[in-house]
Amino acid sequence: MDSEDNEKHREASSQMKIKPVYRTMGTCAVEIPGPCSLVIFGASGDLTKRKIIPSIYRLQKNRLLSENFFILGTSRTEMSTDTFRGDMLSAVKDTFSKDFDESSWNELVKKIYYSPVDYTIQATYAQSLKEKLLQLEKKHQTGGNRIFYLALPPTLYENVILNLGAMGLSQGEKGYIHVVIEKPFGRDLDSAKRLNRIVKNSFQEKQVYRIDHYLALETVQNILMLRFANSIFEPLWNRRYIDHVQITSAETLGIELRAGYYEEAGVLRDMFQNHMFQLLALTAMEPPVTFGAEPIRDEKVKVFRSIRPFHLDELKKYVVVGQYGKGEINKKAVPGYREEKGVSEKSITPTFAAMKVLIDNWRWNGVVFYLRSGKRLSSRKTEISIHFKAVPHFMFSNTLNDPIEPNILVLRVHPDEGMNLILQTKNPGSEVCLNPISMDFSYQRDVLMDAYEWVLLNCMHDDQLLFVREDGVEQTWSLLTPVIERLESTTPIDQFPNYAAGSSGPEEADLLIKRDGRAWKPL
Ligand code: BG6
Repeated sequence: MDSEDNEKHREASSQMKIKPVYRTMGTCAVEIPGPCSLVIFGASGDLTKRKIIPSIYRLQKNRLLSENFFILGTSRTEMSTDTFRGDMLSAVKDTFSKDFDESSWNELVKKIYYSPVDYTIQATYAQSLKEKLLQLEKKHQTGGNRIFYLALPPTLYENVILNLGAMGLSQGEKGYIHVVIEKPFGRDLDSAKRLNRIVKNSFQEKQVYRIDHYLALETVQNILMLRFANSIFEPLWNRRYIDHVQITSAETLGIELRAGYYEEAGVLRDMFQNHMFQLLALTAMEPPVTFGAEPIRDEKVKVFRSIRPFHLDELKKYVVVGQYGKGEINKKAVPGYREEKGVSEKSITPTFAAMKVLIDNWRWNGVVFYLRSGKRLSSRKTEISIHFKAVPHFMFSNTLNDPIEPNILVLRVHPDEGMNLILQTKNPGSEVCLNPISMDFSYQRDVLMDAYEWVLLNCMHDDQLLFVREDGVEQTWSLLTPVIERLESTTPIDQFPNYAAGSSGPEEADLLIKRDGRAWKPL
């Protein structure tokens, strides 16, 4: 998109923003977005019920939606607006069973509509979508600002994007038009490039909002604040003071009812190409020039470009994969992955991976980033731990037997959101006795906004900061595609299962880090 297009887009987007209005949430002011419509493709599906509508309801409850707003749900299912409203009410009540607020729902429900579309038949976009949309836009005075949210299986993205373009719905005279695309964005480099090409035929990059819900988590947003709004960390944030970094995303859940998707994906596509690499980029990036979508995304892409490509003939030294067998989670017996409904009994799909990543630039030369993520592990925990170097000289050797544990800064993404710094202090008493203490900061749960609330708000604010850019998505695929292909063609069936549900992962993952004289932070 050239600068003239950018300018036009900004102008169009700002037309509806007259004077920003704010609402205080916790201790922060959140800007209330301007008028807009939200068109949900896949409105009868799971994501709409679990995430999108409950998040919109919460925004409504916290009075963070414009008065001039409406939702138009669409999918292949024939149903009336009343039936759709009823389904959405059940979904909201299921999510907020304890604190459902009737009056907020009554406000919102008046603005929810439904109209079926056959995704593959262009004519239905004109009859049941365009007409209805224009009519509702007039009624709710949304000024042409539209968000198309693709809450669909990825196989349908192409059809919908092409048809939106062909029907002239992707470009408007007034206001902004955004398209929100859920992950997975492609399943390898070629398919991601192809999808990007198709998207670009109908939309400009400025209109495209590729979701990675991790980027919208408060605690993930906080990584940049911690690093760049404090002067004490930045001087230490490099190879001179940091020994290594660990990024963990452990889940106790299995694949639930998603075997169809997961069998095709596996943990490298499902967690590494997106969430894990995004956490890595935010931890490793250089300070951006300003706190804005483009400068930040530029810096993240530079990190991806600096990651040393994996040497396929020595892959085992850098990547370990695993698949869970049966075991126990919270004292309850659970089946192995191959016994899950819909999974092949010979499946070689990995449900766990651990990886050593090296970043070839001045800041990180020689610092290893260890990444691990898996399903059915002993606890649920997503965190980034920065392991500082040991003290250069052990001057307590005649009074202390054990070496001093190095300092660790832990950024806890979830579930116990916050951060802590592990320091050594002297225990009171006459002897020299060191005691590790943890300086702890915990978020207060009730003021945290859900990731999907942030995603929707930022999209309404015309802000792509929390979304992944075209080059970011392609860079991460280009690193991982050869690894995935090599593993898929070389993993023998009898390699799996290699860890028990409820454990901390395969033994080989421990060896991966042990060989470097280090250990994983316990789960
Ligand atoms: C999703 C993956 O993107 O992230 C799931 O598809 C995974 O497999 C989930 O369970 C983890 O998200 P969170 O927020 O629970 O850590």
